[in-house]
Amino acid sequence: MPNIAILGTQWGDESKGKMTDFLAEKVDVVARYQGGDNAGHTIVVGQEKFILHLIPSGILYPNTINVIGNGVVVNLETLFTEINHLRERGVEVGENLKISSRAHLILPYHKLMESWNDLGSGVNLGTTARGIGPTYSDKMNRYSGVRVSDLLEFDLFRKKIDFNLKTKDYALSQVSQIDKNALLEQYHGYSKLLEPHVIETPDFMHRALKAEKQILFEGAQGAMLDIDFGTYPYVTSSNTTVGAICTGLGVGVKAIDEVLGVTKAYVTRVGAGPFPTEMPTEIDEEIRDIGKEYGATTGRPRRCGWLDLVALRYSARINGLTGIVLSKVDVLDHLDEIKICTGYQYNGKELEGFPTSLSTLEACSPIYETLPGWKTPTTEIRQVKDLPEDLNDYCDFIAQYLEVPISIVSVGPERDQTLVLDETFI
Ligand code: GDP
Ligand code: IMO
Ligand code: MG
Repeated sequence: MPNIAILGTQWGDESKGKMTDFLAEKVDVVARYQGGDNAGHTIVVGQEKFILHLIPSGILYPNTINVIGNGVVVNLETLFTEINHLRERGVEVGENLKISSRAHLILPYHKLMESWNDLGSGVNLGTTARGIGPTYSDKMNRYSGVRVSDLLEFDLFRKKIDFNLKTKDYALSQVSQIDKNALLEQYHGYSKLLEPHVIETPDFMHRALKAEKQILFEGAQGAMLDIDFGTYPYVTSSNTTVGAICTGLGVGVKAIDEVLGVTKAYVTRVGAGPFPTEMPTEIDEEIRDIGKEYGATTGRPRRCGWLDLVALRYSARINGLTGIVLSKVDVLDHLDEIKICTGYQYNGKELEGFPTSLSTLEACSPIYETLPGWKTPTTEIRQVKDLPEDLNDYCDFIAQYLEVPISIVSVGPERDQTLVLDETFI
């Protein structure tokens, strides 16, 4: 199998966890390269359900190495909780987990800074409240960022914490207090636990590529939440698109052979921000119920909408997609008709592409085509030839519009509910 990037094309929660786990069986390395524990990636194996926030979704296969790259922001409390939960359930986590020495740490004050940002600015982005934005901000300003390697030089860590608590004093005093000594003690403990996992990711990845190991690059969030290309400021604080693989792990572009865009057969969005194809309340509730659309990280209800091909084409181009994974098609099994957005109408004209301006986006009305539903239960289908004709037509419509083939169709959360249309991925 080629080295595959698996990334979200919409507003997150497209089934990246399921697809990464599905493809991970045959690979040597699964690497995360951006985001942090704002991600919630679900894997279902029989009666068991795993929700991973930080650990890559290759962890259930004992021979796969899982890498957390420098582009990821790491909350050590989440990391060790996740490791412990996995171990309690019999999943081995040891030498198979590697963490970049260059990754930045999410520290307890970052979450508090985030609640202050919401309070102080009066802008509520509806974040996951994991301190993602403040951590990436500290990384970029260069004075305040704290890296994994700093924790391993504890005196340096102590100095940085001193400086950061002083500079953030006003904001922190508005929301809560940080007990510096308790923080230092807690992180001293973490440094010992972390050390055996820490590596130079570029060296590791280089060796893996040279030895022709097979690699999956597991994205978090989705293209429409990208800091540059998404619906700013209602986005996350990292690049969620393909370029982040190179900068978030230290590999060249040629390390990536295929770019699979995981795409829900409809769309969901959690948190605030424009959403042109959002469904009216009744159908929104119905789809949320059937699709169990509640956040894997925060439990918040996800807003549901019709498939938006304008946003998806934009996403396909930014990422250079070579294939689409169409997930959760089973959620639409019961519908008589399915709407699909093929254009945005603005001021009486159809827009050329996806607009930058939020006010333009908010003023757009979607242009819909209506396709017939397949009205057939799909969750038991195990062979491509058994997919209903109207579902094949739905797939063809999407592929033709995007000029990207549908490579995989997912008809349920489990591994065997996956139909591979393109044998590159078998
Ligand atoms: P991720 O963040 O992209 O990994 O996606 P999430 O795990 O947040 O959300 C996807 C949800 O849909 C999870 O609860 C999965 O178990 C579930 N799921 C994945 N694929 C399918 C599918 O094809 N059909 C159905 N019904 N559920 C799916
Ligand atoms: P996965 O990897 C869905 C959303 C939040 C909020 C915005 C900013 O599971 O697909 P942040 O905490 O990142 O500053 O929040 O981004 N968001 C996600 N939505 N899936 C995710 O991850 C998300 N990660 C962040 O809801 O709107
Ligand atoms: Mg998720």
